[in-house]
Amino acid sequence: MNRQIVLTSRPDGVPCQENFRVVETPLDEPGDGQVLIRHTFLGLAPSARLRMSEESSYAQPLALGDVVYGQAVGEVVKSHAPSLREGDTVMSVRGGWQQYSVAAASDLVKVDPEVAPPSVWLGALGTSGMTAYVGLLDLGKPREGETVVVSAASGGVGAMVGQIARLKGCRVVGIAGGEAKAHHVVETLGFDAGIDYRNPDFAFRLKAACPDGVHVYFENVGGSVRDAVWPLMNQGGRIVVCGLIAEYNEGRQAGPGWFGILAKRLTVRGFIMGDHLNRRDDFLRDMGAWYRAGDIHAQEDVSEGLDSVVPAFIRMLTGGNFGKTVVKL
Ligand SMILES: NC(=O)c1ccc[n+]([C@@H]2O[C@H](COP(=O)([O-])OP(=O)(O)OC[C@H]3O[C@@H](n4cnc5c(N)ncnc54)[C@H](OP(=O)(O)O)[C@@H]3O)[C@@H](O)[C@H]2O)c1
Repeated sequence: MNRQIVLTSRPDGVPCQENFRVVETPLDEPGDGQVLIRHTFLGLAPSARLRMSEESSYAQPLALGDVVYGQAVGEVVKSHAPSLREGDTVMSVRGGWQQYSVAAASDLVKVDPEVAPPSVWLGALGTSGMTAYVGLLDLGKPREGETVVVSAASGGVGAMVGQIARLKGCRVVGIAGGEAKAHHVVETLGFDAGIDYRNPDFAFRLKAACPDGVHVYFENVGGSVRDAVWPLMNQGGRIVVCGLIAEYNEGRQAGPGWFGILAKRLTVRGFIMGDHLNRRDDFLRDMGAWYRAGDIHAQEDVSEGLDSVVPAFIRMLTGGNFGKTVVKL
């Protein structure tokens, strides 16, 4: 049998356990070109919250009764596809919050557990890492010596953004919730500064940490954090809009006026990682090399068991996670 987590009602604000139910269903049979995967780790992502709302965004809304959308790494336990064998480890972007899934081999990424443990293929070497790589390098275009600021800096994407920027010779300033996270991004991830946005002196401290202004802002959050970075942007600065998690539970918020974009000749660029899959080979080459060399620290927040998925998801949306949120099944 397959245990699955389905959406039973739409959250109003922060999701709660009552929005979900665990159901048991018979295992699906893989068809031609498909495989059956036993999930060993699920990767939780804030965009799943967007899919729980009725209003459409870049992420297609779930219908009530749907298995919650999410990434998984697992082992092929039955294969009807020539390119994959039983025992292979694969990453599925659409594995979902369940113990097993069936997918076409062409939709899966075969991963090498010798290079990195399976869970890392959901974080540093998975979607989080690739989001950071494409967003920062292709769109933020940081140059050596420039100042890069990243929000949600200790999280799955933010930690990778800051570490890649450091490897590119930038001054890196991370914004995170709480002194422990602000300390972590400096001591463990090697950023130049970590600033706690909950501190009453946040805006003042952020300015002091950016004596040359901000050349690239990697936006994961929105809201008051964005408002504090905005006046520090330099002429010709680049803002990469990756996520706006402050709005996922609370709804849309007004932002700064466009005059700053005009006056400072800013480039503000939204992006979705899935539009940049042509960069996967470059990403795996570079990130794989950095990871093997020990230049990238892959901090994970690990929970165990399908029943811990919803609590871990709520913790992530409210800042309780430390690193990429994964659940070991
Ligand atoms: N564009 C894309 O293709 C793409 C792909 C992947 C992810 N994303 C986006 O990237 C961002 C980070 O995702 P992730 O998977 O790496 O999650 P994450 O950063 O590991 O976890 C979410 C973090 O958001 C912060 N947060 C939550 N509510 C906040 C608020 N109201 N104000 C400020 N910070 C808040 C919390 O950190 P603190 O404790 O520091 O507050 C929390 O730890 C999200 O916005 C996500 O939607 C976009």
